[in-house]
Amino acid sequence: EVVVLDFGGQYSQLIARRVRECGVFSELLPHHVGAAEVARRKPKGVILSGGPASVYADDAPPLDAQLLELGVPVLGICYGMQLLARELGGRVESAEVGEYGRSQLTVQEHGTLLRGQPDDQPAWMSHRDTVYTPPAGATALASSTSSPVAAFEDVERGLFGIQYHPEVVHTPYGQQTLETFLRDVCGCAMDWSAANIAEEQIRLIREQVGDGKVICALSGGVDSSVAALLVHRAVGDQLTCVYVDHGLMRKNETEQVEKTFGEQFEVPLVVVDARERFLERLAGTVEPEAKRKAIGAEFIRIFEEEAAKLAGAVSDDDAPEGTEVHTSGDVSAEGARFLVQGTLYSDVIESGGGTGAATIKSHHNVGGLPEDLTFELVEPLRALFKDEVRAVGTEIGLPERMVWRQPFPGPGLAIRIVGGEVTQEKLDILRDCDAILQEEIRAAGLYRELWQSFCVLPDVRSVGVQGDERTYGYVVAVRAVTSDDAMTADWARLPYDLLDRVATRMVGEVRQVNRVVLDITSKPPGTIEWE
Ligand code: XMP
Repeated sequence: EVVVLDFGGQYSQLIARRVRECGVFSELLPHHVGAAEVARRKPKGVILSGGPASVYADDAPPLDAQLLELGVPVLGICYGMQLLARELGGRVESAEVGEYGRSQLTVQEHGTLLRGQPDDQPAWMSHRDTVYTPPAGATALASSTSSPVAAFEDVERGLFGIQYHPEVVHTPYGQQTLETFLRDVCGCAMDWSAANIAEEQIRLIREQVGDGKVICALSGGVDSSVAALLVHRAVGDQLTCVYVDHGLMRKNETEQVEKTFGEQFEVPLVVVDARERFLERLAGTVEPEAKRKAIGAEFIRIFEEEAAKLAGAVSDDDAPEGTEVHTSGDVSAEGARFLVQGTLYSDVIESGGGTGAATIKSHHNVGGLPEDLTFELVEPLRALFKDEVRAVGTEIGLPERMVWRQPFPGPGLAIRIVGGEVTQEKLDILRDCDAILQEEIRAAGLYRELWQSFCVLPDVRSVGVQGDERTYGYVVAVRAVTSDDAMTADWARLPYDLLDRVATRMVGEVRQVNRVVLDITSKPPGTIEWE
């Protein structure tokens, strides 16, 4: 494994991902963990990330000099390079002109790090401080217009620095540079893959769970599905999955969960049909946050009741009030001590963790399970990025449709019925329109290109004319966005003929709808969902 130390750079996560794409497991740790913590992981290499500070600022995150004594190669990127250079007696100063964006790199000496690369190549930069002289003993490898030393190496001592960002796509030879560092300098085996991850996680789950019973709240989303399936592979029917149908899912999703998990994979499954209970709870509620809270609270109550029943803490065999329960497989989970969570690495990083379970939020999935649940968590995806979760899902045979499912909010369709209360009729209209949209987008081969695509049903009627009759029907809004992480998003430029088919089908097939509009707002200023 390789440790990436995060000095607050915009692209630190991306470095960790690129290393993994080379087939090397990498972990992102905050810069302040210190050399001892890094050494404990027995890494084959350490990468120091970029960061916003100047190495001369008072509050600049420092380099723990002990890191350079671990006998492990170190690669400094941008701020990381400047830290290295300054620590080792090179000259780092603020340049007259900062270098931001695309720049041209001239390689004078290929050394080990840039071996086999062109003498001139584009590279992406973002810095003002610049290395003017490399540390004593190090060789300068390359320069750019504003960086006299854009790369250096001291092979003997295993110290490497690059000013540019190898992790971004605008640096075409960046990935090659990382690969060279990992393979030729660190001696990594480069064989870490989705198959290894699955195998390794299955082994770890067995170790953790032993012969204990495990409960998993399954939502149908890719994270909880992959987590559940891994646990099932590891401990078989010691696992019982609970799926709460709140009636706010898209068309056929509940059936798909039942079919995939209950029938295909024969995972012991409890389906709690709580559709009526949620509708009753939502009656009269219009305000978005009130809706979210109501749904979240109701979800937790039902899941807890069901989990307690399964674990045997409650002897009553009845379903939670206002629900119906049907099961498939052997769903005995008596004495269950473990709860599966689909926590991802991005959740772990976001909560400032990476070093211990205590700092981790446990509420990223299934609409926020409370922390006082008396279960020990099983989190097989804790070390993985979303694309790796998808790769593992594919590896262990999860159907393509579930592996590539677009993100879907916990409160489901309820937050897409806006300005009025959630009713059965509106849910049905929305579900039918959404199904048409998804069908056409899939048929056009665009589903995976979109971060999300969905319909919104405002509480608005409009006048229309259909079959020579005046109609007064619902307006449906189509929303489709592209995004990398949901923090920002752009409205998707769907082809006109696709939009035309979608609109024609919606007004033709969904009786209550007579008008379709398109949302062309990016985020910011809009959000992806309407509420
Ligand atoms: P916004 O609308 O804030 O959404 O741009 C960003 C992403 O978060 C999803 N989203 C939610 N997910 N519970 C969830 O589990 C929620 O209450 C919720 N609200 C928004 C949204 O679908 C998008 O992917």
